[in-house]
Amino acid sequence: MLKGKSINIKKICCIGAGYVGGPTMAVMAHKCSNLEFTVLDINEDKINKWNNNDLDQLPIFEPGLKEIIKSVRGKNLFFSTEINKVISESDMIFISVNTPTKIKGFGAGYAIDLKWVETSARRVAKYASNHTIVVEKSTLPVKTAEVIKEILKCESDKIITSKKSFSVLSNPEFLSEGTAINDLIDPDRVLIGGEDELSINCLKNIYKIWVDESKILTTNLWSSELSKLTANAFLAQRISSINSISAICEATGAQIKQVSEAIGYDSRIGDKFLAAGPGFGGSCFKKDILNLVYLANFYGLNEVADYWEQVIKLNNWQIKRISKFVVEKLFGTVSLKKIVILGFAFKANTNDTRESPAISIVKDLLENGAQVVIHDPKVNYLQIKKDLNTDNEHKIYTPDFGSWQFSRDIYKSLKNADAAIIITEWPEYRNLNWEKISQLMRNPAWLFDTRAITDPEEIQKTNLNYWSIGNG
Ligand code: UDX
Ligand code: ADP
Repeated sequence: MLKGKSINIKKICCIGAGYVGGPTMAVMAHKCSNLEFTVLDINEDKINKWNNNDLDQLPIFEPGLKEIIKSVRGKNLFFSTEINKVISESDMIFISVNTPTKIKGFGAGYAIDLKWVETSARRVAKYASNHTIVVEKSTLPVKTAEVIKEILKCESDKIITSKKSFSVLSNPEFLSEGTAINDLIDPDRVLIGGEDELSINCLKNIYKIWVDESKILTTNLWSSELSKLTANAFLAQRISSINSISAICEATGAQIKQVSEAIGYDSRIGDKFLAAGPGFGGSCFKKDILNLVYLANFYGLNEVADYWEQVIKLNNWQIKRISKFVVEKLFGTVSLKKIVILGFAFKANTNDTRESPAISIVKDLLENGAQVVIHDPKVNYLQIKKDLNTDNEHKIYTPDFGSWQFSRDIYKSLKNADAAIIITEWPEYRNLNWEKISQLMRNPAWLFDTRAITDPEEIQKTNLNYWSIGNG
């Protein structure tokens, strides 16, 4: 229908002002000063935070984000809750809303809940005017674009005289939290899936402003959607693989860092994503693999489903084995013992706690009666409270269920502690004065380093008992 015509893009909006929508639009606005970008959200509080003059109040922490927001906000980047109005004025609309795993109904535990995507598509269908390019940006199951297209088509069919028309593109996000700004400015590749060449070129022309054309790949819609799931599944698989080997190292006396280095030198394997840890977290890996498992089962590919599900099972096992190990080393009981958690975010340089291994480890310790003190440089108390889903902070503990407190002071929190567990690889934890800390802690006290970021030689100078992941 649009063949031969050109589409003039001036206004772009993004539905969803989260970890993906916010930084993505900020970088686009920064790179494309002739285009106007608006990030939309139903959550008024979140939009107020994005608009806050105090840039330390932005709803997400991401290195370099503050600076970019400062340079473009109010110029060609806006944050708003006026969703219908902005949709009606936009030529291109990114959908970047929540896509969690379903917790009930058919496909519960595996399939993605498309409720938020569907609501957004319905709004776009209702309020868009003229020709609109709709870009799916969230991680979505294969064939979601079909659902969006169907919804958009129904609406435009309703009004026979309407000039409304839509093109749907898939443009998966590969940014990694903590390095999101750099990933957006200098991506390994940009993937655009679609059927309508004119619309694909429109989006391609925007990326071409700052991304080398050779890095912009175009595919059909389903390949694009499946590539996103596959990329995350492969990355997660690498982590489960190295984590499985970390356990073998501990049992045999090998050292995981040496093994990672040795295999990483093989150019076919490569040296990235080989750091053993407490298990992968984050909003994507688990969700995407579960989705892949669901997809495989749906198509009767049960062996394929089982293969990928094992990546998740190994991850769950890795998280669990840490809390079990801690309890075991503390003479089989943590009841009434003070245990300090260093890091609650799922990785360093983000305040995101989604699927963080810390959540499950702390819950296990609480169930075993520990007095937990949680430190994190960026995650706030309310988020932790939400994640632990308990209001027992400061409650007088009973031996059968522990208590937790939040602290921003590492040294203070470690006073009289029986154990410290490093869960997130924050730079702050790399150069702590363990000599001084060991004097503050109880004797005997333990340091459990699930990220292997501490120097064993340094720790050996102290009187701390020490365990570092994969260090046999
Ligand atoms: C991931 C993908 O990397 C990104 O491309 C996609 O768009 C979204 O999902 P993210 O979840 O932000 O990004 O973080 P990532 O750096 O991939 O880390 C995921 C988890 O794996 C973290 O818990 C991290 O600590 C863990 N990890 C990563 C390891 O345990 N070892 C490693 O070597 C690398
Ligand atoms: P991601 O990591 O994929 O960016 P987030 O949970 O950080 O996910 O962000 C998704 C955002 O989408 C949330 O801020 C949520 O309020 C917003 N959202 C969900 N549904 C809608 C909707 N129908 N219209 C506008 N915003 C929405």
